[in-house]
Amino acid sequence: MSYEEIYARSMEDPEGFWGEQAAAIDWYKPWSKVLDDSRKPFYRWFAGGELNTCYNALDRHVENGRADQAALIYDSPVTQSQKTYTFAELRDAVAQFAGVLRDQGVTKGDRVIVYMPMIPEAAIAMLACARLGAIHSVVFGGFASKELATRIDDAKPKVIVSASCGIEGSRVIEYKPLLDEAIDISTHKPDHTVIYQRPQVSATMQEGRDLDWASAAAAAKPADCVPVEATDPLYILYTSGTTGVPKGVVRDNGGHAVAMQWSMKNIYNVDPGDVFWAASDVGWVVGHSYIVYAPLLQGATTILYEGKPIGTPDPGAFWRVISEHKVKTLFTAPTAFRAIRREDPEAEYLKKYDMSCFEALFLAGERCDPDTLEWAQKQLGVPVIDHWWQTETGWGIAANCLGIEELPVKPGSPTVCVPGYDVRILDENGNEEAAGEIGRIMIKLPMPPGCLPTLWQNDQRFLDSYLSATEGYYLTGDAGYKDEDGYLWIMSRIDDIINVAGHRLSTGGMEEVLASHPAVAECGVIGAADQLKGELPVGLVVLKAGVEQPEEEIVGELIALVRQKIGPVAAFKKVVVVDRLPKTRSGKILRGTMKKIADGESYKMPATIDDPAILDEITEALIRIGYAKHQ
Ligand code: COA
Ligand code: AMP
Repeated sequence: MSYEEIYARSMEDPEGFWGEQAAAIDWYKPWSKVLDDSRKPFYRWFAGGELNTCYNALDRHVENGRADQAALIYDSPVTQSQKTYTFAELRDAVAQFAGVLRDQGVTKGDRVIVYMPMIPEAAIAMLACARLGAIHSVVFGGFASKELATRIDDAKPKVIVSASCGIEGSRVIEYKPLLDEAIDISTHKPDHTVIYQRPQVSATMQEGRDLDWASAAAAAKPADCVPVEATDPLYILYTSGTTGVPKGVVRDNGGHAVAMQWSMKNIYNVDPGDVFWAASDVGWVVGHSYIVYAPLLQGATTILYEGKPIGTPDPGAFWRVISEHKVKTLFTAPTAFRAIRREDPEAEYLKKYDMSCFEALFLAGERCDPDTLEWAQKQLGVPVIDHWWQTETGWGIAANCLGIEELPVKPGSPTVCVPGYDVRILDENGNEEAAGEIGRIMIKLPMPPGCLPTLWQNDQRFLDSYLSATEGYYLTGDAGYKDEDGYLWIMSRIDDIINVAGHRLSTGGMEEVLASHPAVAECGVIGAADQLKGELPVGLVVLKAGVEQPEEEIVGELIALVRQKIGPVAAFKKVVVVDRLPKTRSGKILRGTMKKIADGESYKMPATIDDPAILDEITEALIRIGYAKHQ
């Protein structure tokens, strides 16, 4: 069937369509309703059904002839080590660690926070939670203690699983002191932690609270899969909102499993037995969906890579992994390709490797500039597919569905709506925009399986953040348009979220940190264009009257404060002191105009600006720190 036919079917008969796809998953009990819409606008997929996600990802493949096939290949240039787990080995390791968690009293519905580097034990801990019906919440290793503490207080985990250290390029980063501090400052305290001791660092353990992974696993008995409702949560993943308080995106078990497995073949064209590599981190949604769950549900081999695109050891790192492990499909963020291209513009390193196994590159996480896409196409000679999605949906909203039909690529567009998604471009009054007109990108309810059913214990915030703009539609937070051919173009965010090296960050959260400095009267943070990372945060601060501390010292303290409170991943390194900030007459800071100035773009004088002369001062200040060059 063509893309058009499949898409039409998914729109006309979503229950029939997804009910059929759900046959690819093993259920303990079939659902009573494919789509339960009795609590609109809260929709639930496969209500009444029972399954276990870990069983579907591991055990059933062991039982169906894939026991000896590689399930997970850990490739770690930073430790110069590799390890392959077959499906049988991974199932056993997961069952054993589920036994450890069960011994600590973890049962169905309990939360477990996973704060880990890119080692197999991170995936093992996630799958072990799924096995018990416990809800994992993975926190990215680049977040600081305070961010971790916020998540501990919201998720209230019984147990936290962590490791002694992570390795970032050539640096060893101790995780345990960060974890200890987070537990100190959080109100909720976990009963226990389980720490995986890596050879590089031996973490100091707190007696009675901290357990050593290896000894606990040796003492545990393997645990079996616990059936859960399709609508029970599988995980919570916190993501940046417009304030410093992150949103706890909930993922269910049933809809997620069905969507994940469907996407592997239909979007990525990956079959059971193929090797798939998502070069991301388990701390992000890409890692959840495409390092851990989707490839394993499909019976494919997944690569877990502890390294960078460059510097570990060189810009040929990705090509080495692809050729060594026979990767068919790679998924990464455009930043990774910009980094490789910057170091190896002619792709000389590519010539050293046999890439005959490689069939497609998928890019997502940030806008893909046509230049990068075309470079990748030229060097690799395979389809390069930009696709668009977000933590909330958990899988592609717009893509070129390679497993259905390869459509012509238009560089700069993530192609068309994925079956199941009814994407509309609406104006502020909820009216549909004509082709080519920019508006808010919305998804008509119900969204397909796998998308968030709500925010963790916060239905109201879910309604307020996503469903209140136009009745019957989900607000993606992105702005863009559809062209005459139905291709989507994602242009910008309509909120304070920025995208730094594919990492989603809140400028509002950074402003809260800057404002907490005793010398700062007010501030604004913008995402300025960056050639490598897409965007970089830039802070503009106004000091309180009478502050005598030297400006450079304050700037240094502000940079350190953001790193300490949010984490190195914020990449917050540029701050400038200004006398005042441009505002509307009602007092709203004109961040959009400041961004345009920083990027050297022309801008319209905002009609509501309080005092236009301020914009010249802002331009001069931004020039001082290397921005606004073309003004
Ligand atoms: N634990 C601790 N620190 C971390 C970390 C982790 N898991 N991940 C990143 N950091 C640190 C980095 O070391 C860096 O610290 P520094 O300021 O001391 O140098 C900082 O956070 C910023 O990290 P990053 O944005 O990754 O920048 P980088 O300069 O280290 O690497 C790229 C740049 C382009 C190579 C890198 O961003 C990359 O590989 N991107 C690929 C895209 C990607 O994986 N996106 C995820 C979503 S799909
Ligand atoms: P995250 O939740 O971290 O996956 O970030 C999601 C956001 O990243 C989206 O809402 C977009 O703003 C941006 N994004 C992700 N993929 C793309 C893409 N292919 N093109 C443009 N923007 C993207």
